[in-house]
Amino acid sequence: MTTVDVPVFIDRDAIHARVQALAAEIRRDLPSEDLHFVCVLKGAFMFLGDLIRELNGRVTIDFMALASYGAGKTSSGEVRLVKDLDKGLEGRDVVIVEDIVDTGLTLHYLQEILRARGPKSLRTACLLSKPSRRMIQVPVDYVGFTIEDRFVVGYGLDYAEQHRHLPYIGAL
Ligand code: IMP
Ligand code: MG
Repeated sequence: MTTVDVPVFIDRDAIHARVQALAAEIRRDLPSEDLHFVCVLKGAFMFLGDLIRELNGRVTIDFMALASYGAGKTSSGEVRLVKDLDKGLEGRDVVIVEDIVDTGLTLHYLQEILRARGPKSLRTACLLSKPSRRMIQVPVDYVGFTIEDRFVVGYGLDYAEQHRHLPYIGAL
């Protein structure tokens, strides 16, 4: 086993504080609704776990997986549905939970296909956003942190499937 040191970019406390604030914002916008969270695997799993623990009221979750990247750091520009949701979205207040918006291609594709399923409302929460990399404009209702063009890992995010377990966001 080798030890890998990834420098801290955003620490645990900052993430926790920001996730709490996002949860409060989401509840303020949808005070008495049954919220249905769609977590985009794998990168958003930790964010989802922390976010829903901060939310009061009725919450349900579902998961889907998309592939837009190979094992590298650059987008292929091609998005593929790898795992679909278990349940439909009709009439529900849906919040997409994504790890990071980079070019925006993945989220754009996702919003299109989920909107077609007839949710009552569709919002998006992203832990991170890299606006300088955007190739397509996508609406993001809740952004955790806006960052410059750095490749980040940890807290669910990977580089070639490594580093997802780090409890902080690190920069490679
Ligand atoms: P987009 O389609 O270019 O917006 O890419 C979105 C997806 O690329 C995210 O859901 C991540 O899985 C991945 N991604 C983009 N930037 C990073 C990064 O800095 N670290 C890890 N994954 C990234
Ligand atoms: Mg992702």
